[in-house]
Amino acid sequence: MDLKHWKLGVDGDHLAWLYFDRAGSATNTFSTEALRELGQIADHLASMPPKGLAILSAKDNGFAAGADIDEFTRIASAAEATAFMRLGNEVYDKIAALPFPTVALIHGFCMGGGMELALACRYRVMDDGPKARMALPEVMIGITPGWGGMRRLPALIGAAAALDLMLTGRGVDGRRARKLGLVDAVTPRRHFENAARQILTSPPPPHHPALMAAATNWPGVRSLVARMSAKQVARRVRRDQYPAPYAIIDVWKDYGGDPRNVPDSHPGSTASLFAHPTTRNLVRIFKLQERLKGFGKLDPGLRREDARHVHVIGAGAMGGDIAAWAALRGVSVTLQDLAPERIAPAVKRAAELYARRLRQPHLVQAALDRLIPDVAGNGIARADIVIEAIVENAEVKRKLFAQVEPRMKAGAILATNTSSIPLQELVPVLKDPTRLVGLHFFNPVAQMMLVEIVRGPQTSEATMQAGQSFARQVDKLPLPCKSAPGFLVNRVLSPYLLEAMLMVDEGIPPETLDAAMKDFGMPMGPIELADMVGLDIGWAVGQELAKPGTPIPKKLQQLVEAKQFGKKTGQGFYRWVKGKPQKSSAGAGSLDLKALADRMVLPALNEAVACVRERIVADADLCDAGVIFGTGFAPHRGGPIETIRARGKDEWLRIMAELEARHGPRFTPDSGWPSI
Ligand code: NAI
Repeated sequence: MDLKHWKLGVDGDHLAWLYFDRAGSATNTFSTEALRELGQIADHLASMPPKGLAILSAKDNGFAAGADIDEFTRIASAAEATAFMRLGNEVYDKIAALPFPTVALIHGFCMGGGMELALACRYRVMDDGPKARMALPEVMIGITPGWGGMRRLPALIGAAAALDLMLTGRGVDGRRARKLGLVDAVTPRRHFENAARQILTSPPPPHHPALMAAATNWPGVRSLVARMSAKQVARRVRRDQYPAPYAIIDVWKDYGGDPRNVPDSHPGSTASLFAHPTTRNLVRIFKLQERLKGFGKLDPGLRREDARHVHVIGAGAMGGDIAAWAALRGVSVTLQDLAPERIAPAVKRAAELYARRLRQPHLVQAALDRLIPDVAGNGIARADIVIEAIVENAEVKRKLFAQVEPRMKAGAILATNTSSIPLQELVPVLKDPTRLVGLHFFNPVAQMMLVEIVRGPQTSEATMQAGQSFARQVDKLPLPCKSAPGFLVNRVLSPYLLEAMLMVDEGIPPETLDAAMKDFGMPMGPIELADMVGLDIGWAVGQELAKPGTPIPKKLQQLVEAKQFGKKTGQGFYRWVKGKPQKSSAGAGSLDLKALADRMVLPALNEAVACVRERIVADADLCDAGVIFGTGFAPHRGGPIETIRARGKDEWLRIMAELEARHGPRFTPDSGWPSI
């Protein structure tokens, strides 16, 4: 056999060892060619046959990441997509049918088609390290685990747990995988060979789910579980906007989990999902996410180490959470504020975050040990990055910079988390202005993936790259931006929130406005979002970014004057009880939700066009990526620019002309529209 992507050997004990080693790639992914070769190998082994087979990866980063997304995006027709799905099933069915014991040895990531290959083996052994992860994340790009996952996973661990994994795309580590029955053993990678030898030479009975878990697959119970899952999904997403999770439930319930049985005309078929615009948009977002991750990779000439120590100044809402997050991600952090009692609440929040995320007490303790309160600022001298997150006041920040810079070590960078102060206003006090960069995190830090990396007029390339690589180091998505008011995300978000608040002044209930935008596909309506961010902050940002002549929302002004800032004070546009807004359930009456949504979203689309024209970010794709990852903008629509393109520029401009006639110049199209 002439193999490009696999290496096969048989040892003296007649055990076959099959290494996946995708040619020309640092990561194992399944192309058509790699799948076909695997099919040939299975045929060959079945005719030999050896005593057992171990499948493992020759790559350091993991077992396999799933289907080759580049090849997937080149698929041109639904028929081709269906053929790719069928090929995966045929090949994995051959592996599952081998007449001798098979074991997958899993380290690093084992995702999508990689996990489905592992499921086709009789046994699975997983590395016990922190990087080992199994997941079926297909739903996140609008497709289903179509190479046997929807059949084999429910059979192995029960439908409830299987649907949970498939519908969320969530990953599990070795401990959790073992508990679920997803893997038969968890052991350090260096023991893989022994573990495999033992399993293959004296195979134990394969895993079966416990009775209760198995029962979820029984015909009567199956409909009940499907109905419950669909109800849960419906709370998060709508079927017309996100068909894939509903498809997973339908295929499992009605077609034995096998997409080959599903007629093409069914909305959950591979052909239908492939043709749905959501799938195209989610795949594009996935690729954009990879592009953002790429900004964290340094040019070879600028090679520098990961930041080992970070010093954060300002332990408030942002600084405290940035420090906590960096320590969670393994960085040693000193956290400075004016007095110890200002740091204590941040450490308390960190402890809660670590308990939720890390669970195991020794890991929680280790993360807390990495977060060191430091009122005197002793950490400045050894920090690779100093991050300033004190009050939003240029004079105070300059004063601080003048004190901090002389204490910093050579080569260290200085970052500011400012939301609105242009970097050029902060540099006059610096000896070396090339070392200043904006690292604009979003609130809440633990949940928001984006960090805007802001380039001031004097920021050096090395400083930019150090900022970008730090964002990646702590598992965020860096987006290089020009230093201009509001950068990208706040600039696009703020006219949208403003319009919604002006509509409240016109007497439209906040509930109706929020419902209109949730229908559009936003994760949260604009009024609820404004209350959550804090109306004081919204007010300040609005003042900073509003164009001359923009009206001030009256209700907002009243609330801010009455210090009713939203969630944090218990009252804003909504009354907040136990962290939840109290919404009245009155319907929209005669109001047209779609027209309301058009009016609210258009100012954001217009501002996105302006940002592309001004090159706040390098291109329209990055504008979409930033707005999605920084605000949660309806992912299935693919971002503001894609939203314009999908419905057509002319249609949007027609609506804008009507709104401009009624509401004035805030609906005047930006001059960048013709080039979108
Ligand atoms: P905050 O008011 O919660 O915290 C500021 C902290 O800085 C306070 O604990 C204060 O004691 C401390 N501080 C003030 N002067 C100091 C000094 N000279 N030395 C040491 N500590 C000092 O403010 P927040 O919301 O955390 O904002 C901080 C920065 O982050 C601002 O520049 C803001 O524009 C930016 N930002 C805020 C976001 C938000 O949603 N709150 C989002 C993104 C950026």
